[in-house]
Amino acid sequence: MPFMIIKPKVRGFICITAHPEGCMSHIQEQVDYVRAQQPLKNAPRRVLVIGASTGYGLASRIVATIGGHADTFGIFYERPGEDNKPASAGWYNSVAFEKVAQAYGVKAFSMNGDAFSKDFKNKAVKALKEKIGSVDCIIYSLAAPQRVDVTGDVYKSVLKPVGQKFSGKTVNTDKAEVFETTIESATEDEILHTKKVMGGEDWEAWIRLLEQEKLLANGVTALAYSYIGPEITWPIYKDGTIGRAKEHLAQTAETLNQFLHSQLQGRALISVNKAVVTQASSAIPVVPLYISILFKVMKAKGLHEDCVQQMYRLFAALFDNLSIKKESETCIRLDDLELMPEVQSEVKAIWQGINSGNLFELSDFRGYQENFLKLFGFGFKDVDYEQDVDPKRTFLNLMD
Ligand code: NAI
Repeated sequence: MPFMIIKPKVRGFICITAHPEGCMSHIQEQVDYVRAQQPLKNAPRRVLVIGASTGYGLASRIVATIGGHADTFGIFYERPGEDNKPASAGWYNSVAFEKVAQAYGVKAFSMNGDAFSKDFKNKAVKALKEKIGSVDCIIYSLAAPQRVDVTGDVYKSVLKPVGQKFSGKTVNTDKAEVFETTIESATEDEILHTKKVMGGEDWEAWIRLLEQEKLLANGVTALAYSYIGPEITWPIYKDGTIGRAKEHLAQTAETLNQFLHSQLQGRALISVNKAVVTQASSAIPVVPLYISILFKVMKAKGLHEDCVQQMYRLFAALFDNLSIKKESETCIRLDDLELMPEVQSEVKAIWQGINSGNLFELSDFRGYQENFLKLFGFGFKDVDYEQDVDPKRTFLNLMD
């Protein structure tokens, strides 16, 4: 069997290798966190997660499984390993997650493919019917660069300002260099494309299909995730193309909330989460520099949270009695700690003075880099990275 030594290969804002044992350690770390919390007594027992292999979707799946003892069905788009090529991190994460779920005595089925595709949706519906049946919670946590529509049209999302060009600080995460960047304003077409990929249309298609197929239980909760952030990121995020898509997602939540309420006494909600290091967020200009500063400030104040802490709080608020800021019927805020005035005033002050020379001193850029490598299974003390490992890892319950 061909084994290989796997080291990180970072190309820009992505790492093109991943380590299977390190990904297992990353899962274990999140599992350990949830195990140390109060069990979630009223959490949903059957959960579908779309975008379940990394970031917020993976953390949601772990919280549902470990905190709530739920059976889960996870959907993602990942690359399996080959003889001499590692799989993507999300593949290894999901294989590792499945082992944990098995040890916990709960069901975990997974499906790999393009969630935007109609054929894939139909296959997922069939597998879900056979293996789990109707779900009481559905989490939509996709972050995708493109979408092939039912008509075959390809939409590509862009991360650009709207209405005016943006000039501001950003960091080259590879070279640890802070520099001024200028990004031209998006065209109307680019706004439309980004909405098609990251807006609510596909979420709505999933919910309506699942309802039609009687796969949503009475009282179902449908969740999708959004971000708002502070003013320094607004030109590129909240007021940019991605912000337009998130506005559409929020409008969709209102429509779906009415629909699910009338059909099933259910609800649809957007959870506005905090900024964390994920494959998706590392691709956004400005955001990695902002996150490095934010982490420094939040860690110093004992307020730091990563995906799993956020998702535990979300579940505890939605299904147990943890109090949380509810902005409206369809929007809850998990970014309360990030946006505390005492956090943001420090972030703002650091932002003004940060440059390549003081990056490591004024921000937690080292923490950012470590966090980034952990996404791909690197930097775990319990893993011997000099050992040969088998890059091919198979699932017990991967549906096709
Ligand atoms: P991520 O990059 O870690 O995860 C994306 C997931 O989507 C993966 O499971 C991937 O396999 C799946 N995926 C991508 N394309 C797919 C396709 N065509 N078919 C099936 N699965 C596909 O992203 P992250 O950051 O966890 O983002 C999830 C959601 O959370 C997004 O809506 C994002 O806007 C939101 N969010 C993220 C924040 C952050 O700081 N990372 C902050 C607040 C919200």
